[in-house]
Amino acid sequence: MGDKFYITTAIHYVNDRPHIGHIYENIVADVIARHRRRLGDDVWFLTGTDEHGQKIERSAAKEGISPIELADRVVPYYHDLWKKLDISHNDFIRTTEQRHRLGVLELIRRIQERIPDDIYLGEHSGWYCQSEETFIPENQVKDKKDDSGHPVEWTTEKNYFFKLSRYTEPLLEHYRKNPSFVYPPQRMNEVMSFVEQGLKDLSISRTSIKWGIPFPGNPDHVIYVWMDALTNYISALGFGSGDQDKFDHYWPADVHLIGKDIVRFHAVYWPAFLMAAGVSLPKQVVAHGWWLRDNQKISKSLGNVVRPMNIIEDFGADPLRYYLLREMVFGQDQNYSDESFLSRYNADLANDLGNTLSRAIKMSAQYFDGKTPPTPCDDNDLLRASREIVPEYRRAMDDYAFQRALDAVWRLLVAINSYIVTREPWKMFKENGADESLSRAIWNCLESLRIVWVMMAPFMPATSREALTRLGANADDHSFEWGGLANNVEVKVTDPIFPRADAAAYVGAPALAGETKPADVRPAEAGAPSDKITIDQFMQTELRVAEVRAAERVPKSKKLIQMSIFDGTAERTIVAGIGLTYTPEELIGRKVVIVANLQPAKLMGVESNGMVLAASIDGEPSLLAVDPSVPAGTKVK
Ligand code: MSP
Repeated sequence: MGDKFYITTAIHYVNDRPHIGHIYENIVADVIARHRRRLGDDVWFLTGTDEHGQKIERSAAKEGISPIELADRVVPYYHDLWKKLDISHNDFIRTTEQRHRLGVLELIRRIQERIPDDIYLGEHSGWYCQSEETFIPENQVKDKKDDSGHPVEWTTEKNYFFKLSRYTEPLLEHYRKNPSFVYPPQRMNEVMSFVEQGLKDLSISRTSIKWGIPFPGNPDHVIYVWMDALTNYISALGFGSGDQDKFDHYWPADVHLIGKDIVRFHAVYWPAFLMAAGVSLPKQVVAHGWWLRDNQKISKSLGNVVRPMNIIEDFGADPLRYYLLREMVFGQDQNYSDESFLSRYNADLANDLGNTLSRAIKMSAQYFDGKTPPTPCDDNDLLRASREIVPEYRRAMDDYAFQRALDAVWRLLVAINSYIVTREPWKMFKENGADESLSRAIWNCLESLRIVWVMMAPFMPATSREALTRLGANADDHSFEWGGLANNVEVKVTDPIFPRADAAAYVGAPALAGETKPADVRPAEAGAPSDKITIDQFMQTELRVAEVRAAERVPKSKKLIQMSIFDGTAERTIVAGIGLTYTPEELIGRKVVIVANLQPAKLMGVESNGMVLAASIDGEPSLLAVDPSVPAGTKVK
């Protein structure tokens, strides 16, 4: 085994189901973990959920349930999603687990034992932001709002405090000695300037919150959410609950991967707590940027979330994994849009990656009897290209520059394509048959494609296994060295690895990945004079009762059902994305409500004339029911 490598994600709040921002973080961590594992490292990858505090308490109260019920309801979404996305974590911690509680209490115990006055009872007033669960410095408050626009309240409280002020110098010294403690450098600079201003002591307990770990010796207080949450990184390894071996083996963490909004907690508070407790510090805090929609951070509170389930259902996990890593420059912000997803899917995946693969495999199968060619080749343009590109790819992976790494892969793809175009193997075959030079040429293409798919493996684990198998290589092949592909082994000619998507169908249809479109979120800002419509505007929509006469699934789509619907005067075709919930058989004979005067739209090549109305429960459609005695054609208003 190589080096041990411990990587963590932030633990996600359970006041909402996961959105694309949370997903991005886990995919990035997974790409790093998979890359390290195949290089031989002994990887431990931790993720989990943050289940205490006011946010959760409030969300649960709104739903009329207890916080733990809310957490128990949301956590399965995470498990399900991580499974669907092929996230290869080794452990999942919930802050409501006993091992975590013991870890937090042990951390506090060690601090109190080593430096008794590092934790004291004191009084504090300041601008408290409930949404961020933290005090906001005076200079970041304007019109009772913080930098991100969250409301703040002037709050006075008697709490336990941690003597953070004592750690200003030790922290600065640590940053100076370890300039890449925070990455990218811009974030390190921000942290340095924040700490250089001098640190104030930090409140680490609350009396107004009930949902949390009681403070030792004073159960009226619960432990402040960040002291609680941050400790997950060690409690998950058994710190405080007896399993010292795992802790000794994997701690300190090699990478805490987080979003840029929570750098301060990880790069200032967390190392200070650890210093106080005499525990070694994590090696690096790595911060990614935000996914935005229309230039605003995607978040539950802004109501502009992008949820991934539709994308995963329609395209699979790997295209989404690819898109998120290819589209964003690591560390910076990036806008999400269905259009950019679809254009990357068709151009990069269906066309570049998919077509090159099928083209090369088809030629091999055709000229060499369904097998890889009999002769390898160790001197050619593609070998030189791959020897140049692989080290660049590896450097980029080490720098978390995933976009650069994928660019490098694409350069090899371009080289393969131009090699095919210049060599014209079909001409070689016509002129001289399947001779040795054709064998070498085709083998070169397949071997460089093998290297392409080895490089793609952390990004698209399932597809990479499939592609490697089709190429006649081992599904787990992870050799970057030229020459790995065997001769005379069977290749697999089959369906395209990424079938082309009908972009118009998706872009015209309700948002692929969103529950709310940006226009729905901010009607006033979008320039509308008012967010209410007039009765005349409503009347422009022609709603009618109609009867489903025939129904069948649209080929190659899991979700779309094509129905022949009688609207009172004629039968028309309507396509609806209800196929995951309804079978065609149960729709026939049913009365539905349709929008009858909608312009036609093509969905997966089928023209749809109108729309069937359905309520959407977590993205799952429920058709509007009409009394079966109402005749088709009746107007609904
Ligand atoms: N519970 C805290 C973290 C405690 S870690 C000891 C928290 N939870 S969160 O659910 O709000 O966010 C979890 C992670 O998702 C954070 O790293 C955050 O930066 C990231 N993201 C949340 N929204 C995001 C985007 N729109 N884009 C990218 N990542 C963002 O903070």
